[in-house]
Order: sequence, then C-alpha cells, then structure tokens
Amino acid sequence: MTLSFRVATPADVPGLMALEQHCFTTDRLSSRSFQWMINRAHGRLWVAERDGQLLGYALLLFRHGSALARLYSIAVAQAARGGGLGLQLLARMEDCALEHGCTALRLEVRTDNPVALTLYERNGYRRFALIDDYYADHTAALRLEKPLLRPPV
Ligand SMILES: CC(C)(COP(=O)(O)OP(=O)(O)OC[C@H]1O[C@@H](n2cnc3c(N)ncnc32)[C@H](O)[C@@H]1OP(=O)(O)O)[C@@H](O)C(=O)NCCC(=O)NCCS
Repeated sequence: MTLSFRVATPADVPGLMALEQHCFTTDRLSSRSFQWMINRAHGRLWVAERDGQLLGYALLLFRHGSALARLYSIAVAQAARGGGLGLQLLARMEDCALEHGCTALRLEVRTDNPVALTLYERNGYRRFALIDDYYADHTAALRLEKPLLRPPV
C-alpha cells in the first residue's frame, strides 16, 4: 500500500507514543505533550502512515512575530528507516514552514546522533551553535539552520 502524509489528530496519540518510545531513549514527548501539540500549539504535527500504521512523524513549531520555524522533533520507525522517509518528512516540514511565511528552519540535534546530523547536513542545514548539557542525560546539542527559499513561480 502507498505511504501517505497527513496532519495528526488526537486519535494518533497512542501510535505517536509507541513511536516515541522506540525512537528515543531520553527527552521523550509525553502523551500530554502530543495532545497539546496537536490541539493547542502554534505549529503542525505531521504523520506518515502505511496500511493504517504510523511509520513516522515530524513536529514543526512557529513563533508569533518570527520568520524562524523550529523542527522540534522527527522520528521514523526502526523498520522503515533508510528508505527515504526521514528525508520526505523533512522536505514536507520545509514546505509547511514556507507556506507559513517562514524564511528559515532551525533545529537541535544531539552531538552523538550522526545519522540525523548527516540527514540534516546533506540537505542544506548548517551548524551555528553548540549548547552544552542540553538534553536530560547532559549530552550537548548542535543547533542547525537552513534558509528556506521559495521556488520560482
Ligand atoms: C533520523 C531519522 C529520522 C532518519 O530517518 P530515515 O527514514 O532513516 O532517513 P532517510 O532514509 O530519509 O535517510 C536520509 C539520510 O539520512 C542519513 N542516514 C540515514 N540512515 C543512515 C545511517 N544508518 N547512517 C548514516 N546516515 C544515515 C543519510 O544521509 C540519508 O541520506 P542518503 O540515503 O541519501 O545517504 C531516523 O534515523 C530516526 O527516526 N532516528 C531516531 C530518532 C532521531 O534521532 N530523530 C532525530 C532527532 S534530531
């Protein structure tokens, strides 16, 4: 069956929690945070699914009065990794940020996460800061930014 992308609904929270559990070891979003992100946040939570099964999600946040969007989290189920889904989710977040009038996308990534770092750096994200002791387990974060360009009309 084909892969589809859509904005998350509250019914996705159990599936999102299962993904979060197996994709991250620290700093996981709680069920309450997912509910809030879906219902209240100034942002968009996108999911990717096949045959009714959630294979990945990406969470984009906006800030009033700012042209900077923030990729707050992105995750792909272990079994679906390496097939381009992470890249597709990232591209969708960039399109979504552009549609909201943003001119750049920022994110944080653990210094010990070479897979995610490669994904970002191969796709135009550049390091601009290092924040020590950023995550709950005291690992540092790299901050990355990509300018977003509107495709010519
Ligand atoms: C990071 C993550 C979202 C990537 O998802 P994915 O679907 O496997 O990514 P893709 O298949 O689209 O791969 C995109 C790029 O990522 C990099 N990449 C993917 N798997 C990799 C691996 N095992 N080793 C090194 N680089 C890798 C490559 O640059 C790849 O591009 P390429 O295939 O042209 O070389 C996924 O590994 C994941 O969910 N990890 C756990 C959660 C996490 O770390 N999220 C990021 C938080 S900042």
